[in-house]
Amino acid sequence: MTILVFDSGIGGLTVLRELRVMMPDQHFVYMADDAAFPFGDWSAEDLRAHILKLFDELIETYEPEMVVIACNTASTLVMEDLRARFSDVKFVGTVPAIKPAAERTRSGLVSVLATPGTVEREYTRDLVRSFASQCHVRLVGSATLAVLAEAHIRGETLESAELLSEISPCFVEHSDKRTDIVVLACTHYPFLTNEFRKLAPWPVDWLNPAEAIARHSLSLVKQPNEAQILKNLGQFDEAIFTSGKPDFATKRLLHGFGLRVTADSAHCA
Ligand code: DGL
Repeated sequence: MTILVFDSGIGGLTVLRELRVMMPDQHFVYMADDAAFPFGDWSAEDLRAHILKLFDELIETYEPEMVVIACNTASTLVMEDLRARFSDVKFVGTVPAIKPAAERTRSGLVSVLATPGTVEREYTRDLVRSFASQCHVRLVGSATLAVLAEAHIRGETLESAELLSEISPCFVEHSDKRTDIVVLACTHYPFLTNEFRKLAPWPVDWLNPAEAIARHSLSLVKQPNEAQILKNLGQFDEAIFTSGKPDFATKRLLHGFGLRVTADSAHCA
């Protein structure tokens, strides 16, 4: 029994990390659609069609018990389509943590840092209307941060000024109140949290929903029996890249996460 974890690149690893802590007995396959990275730039229609086509193959190949879409840009677009198309499979999405932020903020000023795609989605705007109408929510779409997060992981030095200009719109001051929560609504961004902390004009809570997603996933999945656990112990968790050629730094990162990079030509571009 496999749990498939999906993102456009390495961002979903921030979710996979929590999933593996909470479900050490499960077998995971991490699928990075890096041939299509970044998703944030795609038109909604093209991205929907692309993801549904890819999942036709993925579901047939891996027959997963559960799929975790560890990507806000994809989840805010295709969760309903995926659930309708593959009704036997459980799907867990990653959507902007607007509800917990609205419950937790003291100042009532919350910002959501995401890709341009996620910011535009009606799904995201509905979350604000349904759960945060009493707050002032600023949606900030960044066209470059996911790419910068990947560069950071490759060991490239990032320009502080560039990062600062991407996060600056998140910091709002209204009379004597200031933003106190920034929702990390792209799974790539937790890789940059330390940089964000250093550059932030004042301290805020950088809300990463990965643990909550893992907890929700745990509540939906069947716990393996002893025989399945023993079988899983002999199996590596795998990572597959649709480009077919993750670079050296990415391979090292995956190794650090305890994943084996599998060349799966069927899903490579
Ligand atoms: N990690 C993704 C997300 O959570 C997408 C980044 C991208 O491909 O633009 O939105």
